[in-house]
Amino acid sequence: METNLDRIIKEIELFSVFNSTPGKGVTRFSYSDADKEARKYLVQQFESLDLDLSIDAVGNMRAKRKGTDENAPIVMTGSHIDTVLYGGKFDGVVGVVGALEVVRVLNENNIPTKHPVEVVIFVEEEGSNFMSTMAGSKTMIGQYGPEELKNIVNDKDVSMYELAESSGFSPDTASDFVINPGEIKAMIELHIEQAAVLDAEKIPTGIVNAIAGIKTYTIEIEGVSNHAGATPMHLRNNPMSAAAEIISQVDGIVIQKANTTTVGTVGKIICEPNVANIIPGKVMFTLDVRDVDPQGIKFTVAEFEELLDSAVRKHGVKKRMTLVAEAAPIKLADEIIQIIEEEARLRGIDYKLMNSGAVHDSSMLVDITSVGMIFVPSVNGRSHVQYEKTEFEDIKQGCDLLLGAVYKLAS
Ligand code: HGY
Ligand code: MN
Ligand code: MN
Repeated sequence: METNLDRIIKEIELFSVFNSTPGKGVTRFSYSDADKEARKYLVQQFESLDLDLSIDAVGNMRAKRKGTDENAPIVMTGSHIDTVLYGGKFDGVVGVVGALEVVRVLNENNIPTKHPVEVVIFVEEEGSNFMSTMAGSKTMIGQYGPEELKNIVNDKDVSMYELAESSGFSPDTASDFVINPGEIKAMIELHIEQAAVLDAEKIPTGIVNAIAGIKTYTIEIEGVSNHAGATPMHLRNNPMSAAAEIISQVDGIVIQKANTTTVGTVGKIICEPNVANIIPGKVMFTLDVRDVDPQGIKFTVAEFEELLDSAVRKHGVKKRMTLVAEAAPIKLADEIIQIIEEEARLRGIDYKLMNSGAVHDSSMLVDITSVGMIFVPSVNGRSHVQYEKTEFEDIKQGCDLLLGAVYKLAS
């Protein structure tokens, strides 16, 4: 049993057309028109594959292929269709196409499975709207309800609750859809690696051991806006000077003091009023800290807070540091890792056991089911950019591995 390369290529190219920024990578934020187009296509595919579709309070989709034993727990596979701004066409989509291929091949060959096989599409995995990654899967497991969804807001102060509601979903009913422990036998997500290990070592697949944890903060620094020319340097309370001093030291903390597996990134900065001849009044920037070891995250945040306090005192400005998203580092299930390894050996597919520096919705499900992940190489390790690339033959091989592992678990 194997998946269909032509169909995989066609479908990945098709998803890239559901795009808000054609010509500048792929941008498909949850609840955007491009997202709605992609969802319409998915609903048609689910219908044609005779899957029972349930869409939850914020737009997560679960499309189930019946098992011979309807009470048997579900084997779930899938990923996300939302992207970062100006992103690539493979992040998330590879796992969605892989999950659709698994069902297509089982249907085409009339292969029954004891356990239902379910395609899952997570909403707002990237956090592109709200800087809060995996908000859809956190709602799915009951970590986020209507109140939490009201507190996740975008730059225009619109909450995920409001955006979901105005997109036709019903965030108040979130608790009706929470996955119950025991409902899912296993979850396996196929995903691009988004780093350079597999590509550099010319290994076609990765089997994931652990997924990094994450803490995302916004840091707002407030000073005194004033005339850029007439205000002497010793009379300034410049939030940009404080921010620059702090940001320039983030790499040093992480590289010199934290673990080799710790990463820290300042990826977004907003300056108000952002005018050349006005000393800024306020600067907001983000801090994204990750590690497979929770101590690495904890240490880096503590060092950063010290840095922040001393810069704030020195420049006579005020600060507010807010945690906007977090997920603990997680270990994936040994029994699923073994099943994927056996399948790889059976199919003669070379693989590497490895960690994921990127976060994934699957990590949200570890408390309610056994989770595994399969990686396929990212050419030159590039991702979250329009140059993101994975060879289609590698994707097909990852889909074949996913098919074998899901079939084994569902039989
Ligand atoms: O940021 C991440 O790791 C994921 O792509 N949302
Ligand atoms: Mn992803
Ligand atoms: Mn991503």
